[in-house]
Amino acid sequence: MKKVMAQSNMKLQVLILLATTLTISCGQYGEEIAEVFVESGSVAVLPCQMSVPDVHSPAVQWKRESGGEMKTVWRRNRSGMEYRSVGTSVRAYCPQPNFSWGEFSLHLSGVTEKDGGMYHCVVEGMKKHTRKVMLRIVRVSFTPAEVVEGNSMTVSCNITPQPDRVKTTWEVRGSLRATSQSLTFQHVSQKESGSWSCLVNSDKASGKASASLQVKGILNPEDNSKVVYAEVGSSVTLPCVFSSGLFVSSVSWNKVFNAADLSTTFATSSKIFSGLYFESVVEENEGIYKCSGQVEGVRRRSEKMERYIHLVTAQILSSSISEQLSLSCELSNSSRVTHYEWLRLDYGENETQTLSTVQNSPSKVLKIPKGEERHRGGWVCRFYEHQTLLGNATYHQPMMSGLEGMNKSENNRKIITIIGLTLVALLVFLILLQMYKNHRRRKMIMQYPAMETIVHLASNERERIERSNRKEKECSVDLKSISV
Ligand SMILES: *[C@@H]1O[C@H](CO)[C@@H](O)[C@H](O)[C@H]1NC(C)=O
Ligand SMILES: *[C@@H]1O[C@H](CO)[C@@H](O)[C@H](O)[C@H]1NC(C)=O
Ligand SMILES: *[C@@H]1O[C@H](CO)[C@@H](O)[C@H](O)[C@H]1NC(C)=O
Ligand SMILES: *[C@@H]1O[C@H](CO)[C@@H](O)[C@H](O)[C@H]1NC(C)=O
Ligand SMILES: *[C@@H]1O[C@H](CO)[C@@H](O)[C@H](O)[C@H]1NC(C)=O
Repeated sequence: MKKVMAQSNMKLQVLILLATTLTISCGQYGEEIAEVFVESGSVAVLPCQMSVPDVHSPAVQWKRESGGEMKTVWRRNRSGMEYRSVGTSVRAYCPQPNFSWGEFSLHLSGVTEKDGGMYHCVVEGMKKHTRKVMLRIVRVSFTPAEVVEGNSMTVSCNITPQPDRVKTTWEVRGSLRATSQSLTFQHVSQKESGSWSCLVNSDKASGKASASLQVKGILNPEDNSKVVYAEVGSSVTLPCVFSSGLFVSSVSWNKVFNAADLSTTFATSSKIFSGLYFESVVEENEGIYKCSGQVEGVRRRSEKMERYIHLVTAQILSSSISEQLSLSCELSNSSRVTHYEWLRLDYGENETQTLSTVQNSPSKVLKIPKGEERHRGGWVCRFYEHQTLLGNATYHQPMMSGLEGMNKSENNRKIITIIGLTLVALLVFLILLQMYKNHRRRKMIMQYPAMETIVHLASNERERIERSNRKEKECSVDLKSISV
């Protein structure tokens, strides 16, 4: 049975007020004021505990001091009728089932700084009992509302009403920082981004309020200490990520060769907001890079924001001294590395990779045991800064040489085949040419078959005549000699 009767309450209130003032003055002696710190926006529970009430159904009233007046927040009369004031009607509530064991606490949801102040809990049974509770609202605020990197900012722990004596402690990103109730930064950095909690402590009570701060600027890298490790041959992106709420008109990348301004512009574009990309890192890429962006409209000004990033290259170099192969994990700058972990890389079935640690020490050199030089796989070097893995590099077993050998012999075979085929072709060609020549000659001769016979006959005839002439001569000589 609930009923809101705000207006008609007023008269009643005044009556009760008079009564209460009386009781307070009577019960002032030894009266204690409870205190609660409640974070703005949350539910406040104002305690009011009595010994078990002396009557079955006492009248209960919660009021607050407001500008020298008392205003009823919540009220119940003896017959169980509930009344609430207009302002807090929805937010105020007293769990009545708990009344039977003397618990009359008021729950106030969605508290704001306006709710802070002194509250009175009046329970009327046979006698009148009063408890006072001071509600203090705690809120963390940042000024200005939009915090931009490099600008000034104030963080405050607001307590309403402000107590005379209170201890505040700040917890930033989970670690305790400062004890002053408000802190001012002249040049805000990304270090200040994150969750800010204000812990408040008085003699009687404690409380906490939190708020998250987003410093607009370059979110990644957060500061100039970033080192990016990249294996030679791998691809890498140097990050430079601006807050989404900023209007960045241009971003440029420079490689810095000296601490001085001896830098060369690497790339300038309004498009490269996400970072500088290297498709395949080479040793010469090592160095310090600067990302700078022109940010417009920061309090009607244009501001330059920049970050330095160190790119460190990693690679494994092999050397062999008296048939002992050793690998060295070489970094272009190893100042942060505390130790190296060497792992053996094996390829199983289905090209699954298995890694097993073989050495974990501050030494960057791994001496490969005899007989292990040619296992199918490779070696991985992981480098750490204490427990943090910084990067890795992989040495692939020169199976490649075997492959190369195979390729070579295959090539050789190809060459031999080609040469063989060429020779065969040449031979066939020569044979054909010879055949053709012969054919041609025979054809030429066949054109004049009679001539050959004639020539032949003619020579035969000449021979015959010569022979007969010689015979005649001999005869004549003989005859002459006879005649002489
Ligand atoms: C409680 O309030 C109701 C409604 O106003 C009234 O009828 C009743 O008499 C009151 N009871 C007491 C004990 O005051
Ligand atoms: C009733 O009292 C108990 C013990 O104090 C408390 O845990 C519980 O939250 C109270 N009930 C409600 C509805 O608040
Ligand atoms: C290595 O890098 C650090 C910063 O990361 C720098 O202070 C140091 O001078 C560098 N060392 C060399 C040899 O370049
Ligand atoms: C390799 O793949 C086949 C089928 O894809 C599977 O049956 C077998 O278990 C795999 N072997 C290993 C060692 O993963
Ligand atoms: C080496 O580092 C790359 C990039 O961080 C990672 O993807 C890869 O899994 C690492 N390899 C090994 C063997 O740890």
